[in-house]
Amino acid sequence: MIDKLEPAREENQQPVRILAIESSCDETAAAVVENGVRVLSNIIDSQIPIHRRFGGVVPEVASRRHLQAIWPVTQQALAESGLSPQQLSAVAVTSGPGLVGSLLVGVSFAKALAYAWEKPLIDVHHWQGHIAALQLERQMPAEYLALVVSGSHSGLLKISPQGLFPLGMSHDDAAGEAFDKIARALYLPYPGGPEIDKAAKNGRADAVAFPRAWLEGSDDFSFSGLKSAVLNYLNRRRMKGEDFSPAEINDLAASAQEAICDVLSAKAVAAAQREKLPLIALAGGVAANSRLRALLQQRAAAVGIETVWPNPVYCTDNAAMIGAAAYSHFCRCRFAPLSLNADPRKPFSPLDAVDKTATPANA
Ligand code: KG4
Ligand code: ZN
Repeated sequence: MIDKLEPAREENQQPVRILAIESSCDETAAAVVENGVRVLSNIIDSQIPIHRRFGGVVPEVASRRHLQAIWPVTQQALAESGLSPQQLSAVAVTSGPGLVGSLLVGVSFAKALAYAWEKPLIDVHHWQGHIAALQLERQMPAEYLALVVSGSHSGLLKISPQGLFPLGMSHDDAAGEAFDKIARALYLPYPGGPEIDKAAKNGRADAVAFPRAWLEGSDDFSFSGLKSAVLNYLNRRRMKGEDFSPAEINDLAASAQEAICDVLSAKAVAAAQREKLPLIALAGGVAANSRLRALLQQRAAAVGIETVWPNPVYCTDNAAMIGAAAYSHFCRCRFAPLSLNADPRKPFSPLDAVDKTATPANA
């Protein structure tokens, strides 16, 4: 049984090299990561140009493209790592959350590789991957607050040696989803987040006072009210036959972006202060947003809290982050059975720990 294989198969001092596969949405990605921190290769086949003409991800189209891309992408990741399959320690894959058809391609493929190459299989939660991306570029402290903001999820998590503990999350639209839907209403191309970021640089953030859902007393988020407010504002104006100049589009982009970043940054800083955490780490695709970074840094610094975020390539979906997260599972011998299935609503467990102190020798 693959799930009974143990890292004792490796010499204790030998590097742990994991081939990781990520296909939860519209990126087909494969990477080889050594000891959870050293990226030997990181290949991403983005489907953005394919979905752009539809204004968003078309799940069926995404699955088909993953099928075409997954083997060439994996071959390239292996070739660039300079390793043969025999030199790998394990195969890791994102099993959820995400689009079920997309996930299924990655999960089935990773299971086939693990079986054929007789390697242990590691199951990684997508959000844990986004958080683990942080350790690829820096040494992370034992305790910090993670603000994970992507197209499918917005959440605050307390990271400690005991595990990853969700403090709050969005129960409706994720921050990235709000960016994408608002951008679409402004006739900006997909994906909307980077387009709003760009347009907002030439706009006035106080042009329109869009609402903020503070959800006092909780660390949860809600962005559906803001999205509706923007759509209603645009519809009211369009029904009167009014059109929007490029300058006005920039103002609307800046105002909507400000509403999202205001709530995310203020709530993250309040949670970090309450939990006495010295550092806030941004992760996920929306972590690439320039206004979010600036506002969070400014507000956190004002109360003596540090901030970090990954480089853009590790913010959006990639497989290196999955390889980084898989290392902690490897160290704990937490392997998945070959019956592993894709789970589009995969629940998050606090046991999805990132323990950077664990090594195969002391796990
Ligand atoms: O993490 P990710 O690649 O995929 C998911 O796990 O969902 O995040 C994609 C999301 C998209 O919604 C995209 O619009 C958003 O990240 N995004 C941004 C920026 N770059 C990507 N949102 C705001 N500003 C950006 N610069
Ligand atoms: Zn993601």
